[in-house]
Amino acid sequence: MKRVSSEPGYQAPTVTVSSSLPRKGVDEAVLVIGVVSDDAGPKVAAVQPYLDEEAIAAVESHLQALGATGGEGQTHRLVVSSLPVASVLTVGLGKPREEWPADVIRRAAGSAARALDKVGTVVTTLSAIDLEAAVEGLILGAYRFNDFRSAKTAPTDTGLTAITALTAGTTAATKGQAGRAVDIATAVATARDFVNTPPSHLFPDEFAERAKALGAAAGLEVEVFDDKALAEGGYGGIVGVGKGSSRPPRLVRLIHRGSGKKPKRVALVGKGITFDTGGISIKPAANMHHMTSDMGGAAAVIATVVLAAKQKLPIEVIATVPMAENMPSATAQRPGDVLTQYGGITVEVLNTDAEGRLILADAIVRACEDEPDYLIETSTLTGAQTVALGSRTPGVMGSDEFRDRVATLSQAVGENGWAMPLPEELKDDLKSTVADLANVSGSRYAGMLVAGTYLREFVADGVEWTHIDIAAPAYNTSGPWGYTPKGGTGVPTRTMFAVLEDIAANG
Ligand code: BES
Ligand code: MN
Ligand code: ZN
Repeated sequence: MKRVSSEPGYQAPTVTVSSSLPRKGVDEAVLVIGVVSDDAGPKVAAVQPYLDEEAIAAVESHLQALGATGGEGQTHRLVVSSLPVASVLTVGLGKPREEWPADVIRRAAGSAARALDKVGTVVTTLSAIDLEAAVEGLILGAYRFNDFRSAKTAPTDTGLTAITALTAGTTAATKGQAGRAVDIATAVATARDFVNTPPSHLFPDEFAERAKALGAAAGLEVEVFDDKALAEGGYGGIVGVGKGSSRPPRLVRLIHRGSGKKPKRVALVGKGITFDTGGISIKPAANMHHMTSDMGGAAAVIATVVLAAKQKLPIEVIATVPMAENMPSATAQRPGDVLTQYGGITVEVLNTDAEGRLILADAIVRACEDEPDYLIETSTLTGAQTVALGSRTPGVMGSDEFRDRVATLSQAVGENGWAMPLPEELKDDLKSTVADLANVSGSRYAGMLVAGTYLREFVADGVEWTHIDIAAPAYNTSGPWGYTPKGGTGVPTRTMFAVLEDIAANG
C-alpha cells in the first residue's frame, strides 16, 4: 500500500504508434475518436484513412440518434459492429477548426480517458490531429492515485495500460514524439503523486529520500543537507521554519550536467513545505488539509529536472529544493523572532504563516551561487494568488523579459500562467523596525506581489528570474476537468520543461 522511497514510482501505459487500425489484437480495446459540432450535427474528425465510410456513417448516425452535439469534452460510448474493437468512445472537440490548439486535443483526450475508468487498452485517432497532445492527454486523464486504499476501496482493474496511437508517420521521429509525450506525462504524474501523498507519509526526510532515489535513477548528481548541515551552513530560513516540527528540515540538490561546450545553466527552486499549519500564526481549521499541497512547487521542480535528464536536454539544470514542515510547538519560531537568511540578510518574522518565502530565500541565494543564466522558482506561496487569478491560473512574476517568455510558454502548454508586475513601491511595505526586512507587509493589498517582491531581494544581480505562484493551480479541490483530476495537478511541470526546451533551442 504505502510506497517506499526505494520503489520505482509511477508507471506510464505503453504507447505504440500505428499507421492503420490494427485488425487483430484490439478486440478488448476502446477506440477513441474526436467529434466536432458541425451545423448539420456531430461529425467525426480526422478518422480517415483509419476508418472506412461505413464505420464513419454508423458512428455519426448513432451520435445523431443520441442527441450528441460534439461539444467540448462530451463523451458517448457506442458499439459499432463492423470495427475490430469492443466499443467506440467519441469525445467532443467543439467547433470544427483548420488548426487545432494542442490543449483542445489534450483536454479531449483527458476527458475520454476519464470516461474509460475500467478500460486497459485504448486505440485513438486523436493522435492523427496531434500525436503528443493525444498521448499526454490520455495518460494524464487516466492518472489515478490509490496508494492509500485498502482492498476495501482499491479498484480491481488495472487502469489504462496500453495506447495505440494512429498517425500517418511511424518513423523514428514519430516514435520520438510519442516517447517525449510519455516522459512529460510521467513527470506530471510523478509531481501529482508527491502532492497526493499525505503529510503523515511525506515529511522532509522521506521527501528527500524519494527525491534522491528518483534523481539517482535518472543519473543526476544528488546532494542532501540534513538539519545539522543546514544549521552549520547558515540556512536560517529553512531552520527557522522547520524547528517547530519533530520531523527536521532538509535541502535537496539535484544536478543534470548539460552536454556541449558552454551549456546554459538553469536553476530551479521549489517550495517544499510538506505541511503548512501556519505555525504559531496558526491557520483556521476549515480546509487546512489542503496544505498537503504546500510542496507542489518542490514536486514539480524534482519531476522537471528528472525529465530534463531523461530527455537529455543539452543544458545544465540545477534544482535546489528546501523541505520543511511548518508546525506550532514549544520549539517553533515565534511571531517577532528575527532570523538570518542564508547569505546574511536578517528578517523579522512577523507572521509564521508566511513561511514559504523564508525557506525559498535561502534556496534562491544558494542557487545563485552556481551563477545560473536563468532561475525559475515556483511555489504555493499565497492565498492572494487565488484572489487575483482564480484556481487555474498561475501568477508569473520576475525580470520583465524572462517573465513574459515563461508566461507565453505556459499558455502554449495549457498551464496558462499569466504575467504579473512587481511594483517598486511594494518594497517599502516590507520594512522592519528591527531587521533588514519583515516577512509580511502590514496590509492585505497585492499579497501575491508582495511575496514576489520579498523573493526578488534574494536573486543575484544579472540573473534572469521568474517566480510562479501556483497556490491554487497545484491542487484541484473542485471537480475533475479535461486531463486534470482532483488533487495534485502537477502544475507547473510542463511550463518549466517547455522553458528548459526553449532555452536549449534558443539560449
Ligand atoms: N501555503 C500558503 C499559501 C496557500 C494558501 C497555498 C492557499 C495554497 C492555498 C502560504 O504559506 C501562506 O500561508 N501564505 C499566507 C501569507 C500571508 C501570511 C502573508 C497567505 O496567503 O495567507
Ligand atoms: Mn503558510
Ligand atoms: Zn505555505
